[in-house]
Amino acid sequence: MYEKMNEQLASYGVVPVVVLNDAKDAEPLAKALVEGGLACAEVTFRTDAAEESIRIMSKAYPEMLVGAGTVLTTEQVDRALNAGAKFIVSPGFDPEIVDYCLEKEVPVYPGTVTPTEVAQAVKRGLAVCKFFPAEQFGGVSTIKALAAPYTMVKFMPTGGVNLKNLRDYLSCDKIAACGGTWMVKGDMIKEGRFDEIKKITAEAAQIVKEIRG
Ligand code: 3PG
Repeated sequence: MYEKMNEQLASYGVVPVVVLNDAKDAEPLAKALVEGGLACAEVTFRTDAAEESIRIMSKAYPEMLVGAGTVLTTEQVDRALNAGAKFIVSPGFDPEIVDYCLEKEVPVYPGTVTPTEVAQAVKRGLAVCKFFPAEQFGGVSTIKALAAPYTMVKFMPTGGVNLKNLRDYLSCDKIAACGGTWMVKGDMIKEGRFDEIKKITAEAAQIVKEIRG
């Protein structure tokens, strides 16, 4: 299940990081992402609408890889899983959350930006870690440096990834997939600009195809 999830996320190459303030936007947003060619999303627990949004998206598009992001507690892990989340993402490396997910055999992607944190992930057998905030922590060059000793780990950078630098990130073979909000910005969702979301999503999917074939 874990390896399969890693492969599926890598095959999409880009994971939209979604912040939904109102669960009513979940279904049209999922539709735009699926039709744009990225049937996956990290729905962040930064808003109260996260749990319900995961439930709605998973039900409306069962084939979609819907995960939970910004998961900061084991209680949120439970809520996310009950709502149908297929993977868990945390901004940092919280051993309690990671171990809890591993016990439940749920794919988990904790944030790691230092060798010490990567070492903790490797010790637990993780093969893909989030790298956040990517641009502030040195982007591709830091990822390459971290991956040199830890050859068994790939990264999922988020934070400052966008259409301008996406090619650079995707060209690095130590990067499993990139995450970001650039295709699902809050104002686009608020104003119901789902066609625009679909268009930007399709652009991202096209770049993945161009770089990775
Ligand atoms: C995340 O939670 O992964 C980041 O906040 C996404 O960062 P971005 O808004 O720069 O894409």
